[in-house]
Amino acid sequence: MSSLEALFEAAKAIQAKAYAPYSRFKVGAAIGTQGGRVFTGCNVENAAYPVGTCAEAGAIAAMIAAGESRIEAIVVMGEGEHLVTPCGGCRQRIREFASPETSIHVAGPEGIRKRFTLDDLLPFSFGPDNLNG
Ligand code: THU
Repeated sequence: MSSLEALFEAAKAIQAKAYAPYSRFKVGAAIGTQGGRVFTGCNVENAAYPVGTCAEAGAIAAMIAAGESRIEAIVVMGEGEHLVTPCGGCRQRIREFASPETSIHVAGPEGIRKRFTLDDLLPFSFGPDNLNG
């Protein structure tokens, strides 16, 4: 199994665990790190709607909690026929731990639908270097 296939399968498995009773839109995310590890997250909604969290945020939290901090690639798995590209907030969250060339794969249940780079989705971004003079 290639590392991309492994990320796809991990995103699919975690998507099934999403807690999305309000939107009924389940999302799974799987991060592959430069060290070859995989971290996953799903969206977790809340009766107080704005408090819900995205799948990507969960995967990033798991990565950081495990002591890793560099994203090599991420697969985001959504439902329906549209491309589920990461929301604006999650693009910025990914940006903190990625490079402009980092691959962001958007998937549906049938497979990977499209590959973007972080720079495609968040050009001219603001990051840690902007705070250093
Ligand atoms: N969602 C994600 O988990 N990631 C995204 O990048 C887009 C949106 C979730 C949030 C909410 O639980 C549901 O999808 C509908 O917006």
